[in-house]
Amino acid sequence: MNRTDAFVAPVARKHADQHGAVENDDAAIGVSLPHESAALHVSGEATYTDDIAELQGTLYAALGLSRHAHARIVSMDLDAVRNAPGVIAVLTADDIPGENNCGPVLHDDPILAADEVLYLGQPVFAVIAESHELARRAAALAKSDDVVRYEPLEAILTAAAAKAARQFVLPPLHLRRGEPDAKIAAAPHRLSGTFEVGGQEQFYLEGQVAYAVPKEMDGMLVYSSTQHPSEMQQVVAHMLDWPAHNVVCECRRMGGGFGGKESQSALFACVAALAAQRLRRPVKLRADRDDDFMITGKRHDAIYEYEAGFDDAGRVLGARIEIALRAGYSADLSGAVATRAVCHVDNAYYLSDVDIVALCCKTHTQSNTAFRGFGGPQGALIMEVMLDGIARQLQLDPLDVRIANYYGVGERDTTPYGQRVEDNIIAPLTDVLLDSSDYRTRRAAIAAFNAGSPVLKRGLAFSPVKFGISFNVPFLNQAGALVHVYKDGSVLVNHGGTEMGQGLNTKVAQVVANQFGLPLSRVRVTATDTSKVANTSATAASTGSDLNGKAAEAAARTIRTRLAELAAQQLGGHADDAQFAHGVVSINGGAMPFEQLVGAAYLARVQLWSDGFYTTPKVHWDAKTLTGHPFYYFAYGAAVSEVVIDTLTGEWKLLRADLLHDAGQSINPAIDIGQVEGGFIQGMGWLTTEELWWNRDGRLMTHAPSTYKIPAVSDTPAAFHVQLYQNSNVEPTVFRSKAVGEPPLLLPFSVFLAIRDAIAATVPGAQHAPPLRAPATPEAILDALDALQSASASEPAAQPATTDTTAR
Ligand code: MTE
Ligand code: HPA
Ligand code: MOS
Repeated sequence: MNRTDAFVAPVARKHADQHGAVENDDAAIGVSLPHESAALHVSGEATYTDDIAELQGTLYAALGLSRHAHARIVSMDLDAVRNAPGVIAVLTADDIPGENNCGPVLHDDPILAADEVLYLGQPVFAVIAESHELARRAAALAKSDDVVRYEPLEAILTAAAAKAARQFVLPPLHLRRGEPDAKIAAAPHRLSGTFEVGGQEQFYLEGQVAYAVPKEMDGMLVYSSTQHPSEMQQVVAHMLDWPAHNVVCECRRMGGGFGGKESQSALFACVAALAAQRLRRPVKLRADRDDDFMITGKRHDAIYEYEAGFDDAGRVLGARIEIALRAGYSADLSGAVATRAVCHVDNAYYLSDVDIVALCCKTHTQSNTAFRGFGGPQGALIMEVMLDGIARQLQLDPLDVRIANYYGVGERDTTPYGQRVEDNIIAPLTDVLLDSSDYRTRRAAIAAFNAGSPVLKRGLAFSPVKFGISFNVPFLNQAGALVHVYKDGSVLVNHGGTEMGQGLNTKVAQVVANQFGLPLSRVRVTATDTSKVANTSATAASTGSDLNGKAAEAAARTIRTRLAELAAQQLGGHADDAQFAHGVVSINGGAMPFEQLVGAAYLARVQLWSDGFYTTPKVHWDAKTLTGHPFYYFAYGAAVSEVVIDTLTGEWKLLRADLLHDAGQSINPAIDIGQVEGGFIQGMGWLTTEELWWNRDGRLMTHAPSTYKIPAVSDTPAAFHVQLYQNSNVEPTVFRSKAVGEPPLLLPFSVFLAIRDAIAATVPGAQHAPPLRAPATPEAILDALDALQSASASEPAAQPATTDTTAR
């Protein structure tokens, strides 16, 4: 037991009603307390960046966007824009005093395009006007040929085209273990194919927005809707050629980030700050939805090639997988995304001999970026598709092939990247879910239904998740917090994480309240602010509460220890024995209210505030060999989904979903269940309805909800059974909880696989996997139905060759 554990406050771990029973007494760990801003969210009082009361003199910015996917800028004549009604200024790259770059890793992301445009939608100039409306009208003049003259250059738009041209934003990643080629060649069965999955727009409800306020002595306060205030501070400082201490970035909350505000809030923060610095007036830049779609990157879409050799039980003996990700025009976070994809190909399965290549294809499209799962979903999906194909070739239930391939416990437990899986609970978790979802009985019932139903076909599928937790760049796994106890015993917490709806602030407040034995109402969490905690990491990789919860706990523990020592001086006994509970501190048979002890501490000149710092233990990574221990631990889950498809129209419906997810010992089950439900529905949107489509010129045509369909509440299945798996983290994380933000996004693989299962039911006994691409839109479903029919008719059953792609 380490010092941390010995010091954990008494935990009143209550069995909470997972959907709501609300208790607000002290030591509120493991209790379904409502989100700290729930009342504000529903009443509309919650302040988002655009709601901040505007200062007098505030101006509004809008961006003029490129009309070509790839072109040289021949000339710009911005007079018409300058002369448009309400326009105060028009800024270009030439107005940037420092570095014209807002890239998070490489310096390949211009804030405003200078000589060349690299995608259609790239900001070329910024208009500052008296209102948003006037700024946007003037910016729309960018559509005119007379304003910016271009010499169009050849554009590469797809991952396939970039791969053929060997155009990459970063060198290929290659991980190899064992002798996959020999194992595949010697295997009793083989399968090869291709597959493709689309990208996904983050579609945060609150779009990208920044409000920059100039301060005295070259200071700048930037309110930004961002997952990464420290990086916004840094890029703004670089852009203005200022030291970082001149810039403060603040974010109270986001209306969703989903990865889309991990790096790509930067362009908006920079343009607002540039305008504010040039004009010495507060400037707000709020992208409208269409511009947000056109400017910012999305989840990386991918094309895959794979080959596997396997035995009669469907156990994979050797596999080769190539993932070509569409990175877009710049590197952004693609290197880390591709690395996470490589490290999630295995998902829950042991791959003894494997070759994995990931390509970051350079295309003249938006620069793809973080999106919930961060490449993990793109990695794991191909494994699930491959196992589905293997099962169909062997005429086995895909469930059994999955189980046959699971990581073992104490054997068959090393990942391709060399980390042992030491906390494997996937087998018992699967047993619980198969039982509660009645999988085997329903499998038989569905077969009977399909036998008697020529048009409507049902499908059922199970899929597991194993997701690695930690930033896969080790140094990012650090966090800080600042806790103040005021003289009246009220507590203020600041930490480096950001609130985007996921409930981070609620969990951190619970942790701090627990340290002091106070009700949650006595703890207030403030806006994230770079002047309070310096050099923070993005709130990302699902690590928000793991990192900031621990940092805040450490800060609170320092104060608590000081208070305990004072209590021991005043009441006798040993400081280690002090109990903080129900708003009272007790020791040596005596007791006093928390605020009384705090008051005494102030008079005794005891420091009542403290910082706290945390670094994740154990993580290391060798980026050259792609091996190491990138994850502190793994989070697990599994899902069973049942769908019905209409084979005439390609329409489908999710009838029932059963999810079982491992959040360790949940700090707040209601919040964690919300994350599981939301992640599942969001991932289902990615794999079914959300389709990004660029035309031949590289223009994204699906840039608004009219043409881009995210799931609605009506897409929730009528039967939706969501449970947390009773588990405790083997690692000493904050209250033995586990990160929960991203892993559930992989649970709806089961929905996609259930649709494949329903398609497969149209050709009973077919050994071909339905060649269904993702997203499984009605068109994709109809294509797969057709292709399955013709493949089954034309090819001898003994020689199955699957191709999962339908050429488009
Ligand atoms: N939940 C909500 N409501 N809104 C969000 O933007 N982002 C997801 C996930 N859940 C998100 C969310 C992503 S991409 C991540 S990495 C985590 O939350 C980040 O928060 P955490 O680390 O505190 O879980
Ligand atoms: N997730 C999110 N952001 C990141 C990661 C990650 O694993 N690594 C580096 N940035
Ligand atoms: Mo989440 S994609 O790590 O912001």
